[in-house]
Amino acid sequence: MKILNYGSLNIDYTYTVDHFVRGGETMSSEDMNIFSGGKGLNQSIALSKSGAEVWHAGAIGTGDGDFLIEQLKAAGVNTELISVLEGKTGHAIIQKAKDGGNCILLYGGANQQISKEMVDQALTHFEPGDYLVLQNEVSEIGYMMKKAHETGMKIVLNPSPMDEKIPSYPLEFVDFFLLNEIEAGDICGEQGEGEALLHKLASKFPGSKIVLTLGGDGSLYWDGSRTYAQGIYKVKVADTTAAGDTFTGFFIGGLVQGMDAKKALDWAAKAAAIAVSRPGAAPSILPGRKWHSSPCRALNRFLI
Ligand code: RIB
Repeated sequence: MKILNYGSLNIDYTYTVDHFVRGGETMSSEDMNIFSGGKGLNQSIALSKSGAEVWHAGAIGTGDGDFLIEQLKAAGVNTELISVLEGKTGHAIIQKAKDGGNCILLYGGANQQISKEMVDQALTHFEPGDYLVLQNEVSEIGYMMKKAHETGMKIVLNPSPMDEKIPSYPLEFVDFFLLNEIEAGDICGEQGEGEALLHKLASKFPGSKIVLTLGGDGSLYWDGSRTYAQGIYKVKVADTTAAGDTFTGFFIGGLVQGMDAKKALDWAAKAAAIAVSRPGAAPSILPGRKWHSSPCRALNRFLI
């Protein structure tokens, strides 16, 4: 069973700041690093490091984003379906505050030049039962969902960053939603919290399984008939960037490799905790193969 992740590739310019810059304010940053990132790229790396077979499809610009493809290759991701297009690679300006929290400004670049023809071409490599993993940082998401559904693929949607286009997509085709409370509230048309919100979303999409992430309170999972709760592993926070992407990659990677949902949730929570304890987006994701079924020694080093 193969996974196609059709998603963003970004160059992350990460600035360490005392506080997020305010309107009208000019402020010096304390440090600046350039990381590979993009929700798509981060999730592909997490999927691959979990041990799953993953193909990344997407686009970079000319001349500035080659290192992103190298990073994916180094993590074992198949990169044959990444195009190099005229123009700039997508990028993110990330302010990282002292508590590890962040705010992100995106420039779509090549990520927003994905065409229907590119989607059709990519899907020829996949068959019924394969997975399509999507976020919301590239163009033609609705078309991808429709075509993947026609192919018989399972669709995973992380509707992030949320925008006005999401409700117009054929969300009834989604097999797995992974989303936070704000995103779930926007899809439901009314904000809410915790289990009540989970069940509201579940009643709107009875064919879908749902992971609702709750920040420091962990996550809730609806499998179509039961709810599971998963806590977080507390670590000293270095950088929260890509923690959600790591969680998504390891959860789906775990399921695809035959784990039950409860175990995959716990595994994903551990991988996300490790990502939080390390700087950067994609570089913060540790391989999971070695601690797949044994006690997670890598995590023990970071726990507080
Ligand atoms: O989820 C984190 C990612 O969001 C960053 O790597 C950044 O590129 C943005 O896409």
